[in-house]
Amino acid sequence: MQSARRPDPTAIIIFGGSGDLAWRKLIPALFDLYLDAWLPEQFAIIGVDIKDLSRTKYHEHLHDGVKKFGRHRKVTAKAWKEFAGHVSYRKMDFTEGGGYKDLTGQLTKFGEEWKTDVCGVFYMAVPPRFIEPIARQLKAHKLATPEKHARIIIEKPFGHDFASACKLNNLLSDCFDERSIFRIDHYLGKETVQNIMAFRFANALFEPIWNRRYIDHVQITVSEEVGVEHRGGYYEGAGALRDMVQNHLLQLLCLVAMEPPVRFTADEVRNRKVDVLHAIRHYRRDQVHEYAVRGQYGPGWIEGKKVKGYREESEVARDSGTETFAALKLFVDNWRWQDVPFYLRTGKRLQEKLSVIAIQFRPVPHQAFPVEAVEDWQPNKLIIAVQPQKGIRLQFQVKRPGLKMILNTADMLFSYTDAYEHEPPESYETLLLDVMLGDATLFMRRDQIEAAWKVVDPVLRVWDNTTPPDFPDYVAGRWGPEEAEALIARDGHSWVSMAMRESKVANDGKDD
Ligand code: BG6
Repeated sequence: MQSARRPDPTAIIIFGGSGDLAWRKLIPALFDLYLDAWLPEQFAIIGVDIKDLSRTKYHEHLHDGVKKFGRHRKVTAKAWKEFAGHVSYRKMDFTEGGGYKDLTGQLTKFGEEWKTDVCGVFYMAVPPRFIEPIARQLKAHKLATPEKHARIIIEKPFGHDFASACKLNNLLSDCFDERSIFRIDHYLGKETVQNIMAFRFANALFEPIWNRRYIDHVQITVSEEVGVEHRGGYYEGAGALRDMVQNHLLQLLCLVAMEPPVRFTADEVRNRKVDVLHAIRHYRRDQVHEYAVRGQYGPGWIEGKKVKGYREESEVARDSGTETFAALKLFVDNWRWQDVPFYLRTGKRLQEKLSVIAIQFRPVPHQAFPVEAVEDWQPNKLIIAVQPQKGIRLQFQVKRPGLKMILNTADMLFSYTDAYEHEPPESYETLLLDVMLGDATLFMRRDQIEAAWKVVDPVLRVWDNTTPPDFPDYVAGRWGPEEAEALIARDGHSWVSMAMRESKVANDGKDD
C-alpha cells in the first residue's frame, strides 16, 4: 500500500524458520522482493527453529522452495548465492531464554556492522501454543520495543473463538505496543483484493449506486478444489467457518461494504472496515439453521481423479463432524445496506478453485420493452474475479443485431492478464514489504479480529455442539451441499459459479 520507497535496514527473524510457511511462502516472497530491489541494502534473515540444521542444509531446503514457489521463474545461481549470503539459521528452543540472548547479541552486531538502528521483524510462523512463550521471551529480552522499531507478525488462526481471541490480544498487548503488531490475513495482500478499494473509491461511476437502492444482493464465493491435504490435524479443530469465513470472507465483505475512508491511512481504512463488522447482524441460536449451512465432502472425482472423502484424510476422525463447507446469509444493518443480503460460501473439494464477488443490481424500475424482447433480459451484474482469473466483468443489456428488438446480455471485461504484462506480486510480498515499512493498512487490528469473531461465534456455538447426522453430505468435485443451493434459492437467486468465462459445466442458475 505504501509509496515507492525501500525499507530501512532490517533483520527478519522467522520463528518456525524450517516450517512449511517459510518454505512455501515467506522465503520465496522475500527472494522475489530482493530480485525486484525492494529489500534494503542492509538486511538479514534468521530462520529459528527446533530442528538441527546446518546453514548449508537450510539454504538447500529454501532454494528448493524458491524454485517451486517463487514468482520469478528463472533463478540464477548468482542471485540465489547473493541472497542466501543474508540468510542464516539458528537451532532454538522457543521456550528458553538462552536463544533470545543470542538473538539480542546478533541484532546488536548487525547494528554495529551496519552503523545504524536495525528494524527487527519477528515473524511467528509457529503453531498457536508457541505464541505465548515467544511473546513473553521477546518482552523479557526487550527485543521488541517500539524504540527498537520492532514489528511482530502473527499468523492465523488468531484464537479459536471470541473469548480466546480476546485472551490472545490481551497477551500481545501486555508484551507489545499495538502499533508493532501485524496480524496477517493473506487475502488482504492479494492484488485483486486491494483493487476493490481502488475500483470503488477511485471511480465516480459506481459509488453513487453502491447501496441498497440499486443493489439487490452480494455474493462472495471462495471455493477450493483441494482438500485438507496434510493439514487434517489442524483442520479438525478449525473447520471452514474458523479457517476461512471469520477472516478471509469477512474481510472481503468489509471491502465491499465499507464507507469511503477519508484518507488511505491504516487507521482510517481500518476504522471504516470495523464499522462494517460492528453492523453485521448477529444471529440468535435458534436462527442459525435458517441463515447458515455447513457441509462435509465425501469421496468423489476432481479433474478425472478419484479423491478421498474428508473422513478418510489423515489425522481426521472417522466420524468427524468438522465442516469443510460453510455458507451464510448475512445482513449489514446500516443506512447503506439495510435488508441487502450478503451470501457467503466457501468450501474444500468443490468443483473448481474460484474466488469471486458478485454484485447483483436491481432490475430497472420499469420495463418498457415488449415481452418477446426481454426473454433473455437480466439485471446488471458486476463480477470481481479475485482468483485464479483476475479481473472485473460488468454484465449489461444490449440490443441483439437484427430487425427485431431483442435484448441480450453482454460483457465489459477487464482482465489483468490482458492488460498487464507482468505477474502481480504475491500477497506475502506485499505484506512483508508493508511490515518492513511499518504500514499496517492491510493488517488486522485488535478490534477487527474481535468483531469478526463476534459475527461467527453464535454459529460456532451451535455447530460445535451438534454433529450433523447426514455428514458427509456433498460429493467431492461438486458445488457443496444441496442446502446451500436452497439457502439462496429461497430468495429467488442462485450462486454465481463463474468469473471471467463460462464455468466448466453449463450454469443452470437463474441469475447466470
Ligand atoms: C488459508 C487456509 O488461510 O487460506 C487454507 O488456512 C486455505 O485452508 C487457504 O486453503 C486459501 O488461500 P488461497 O490464497 O490459496 O486462496
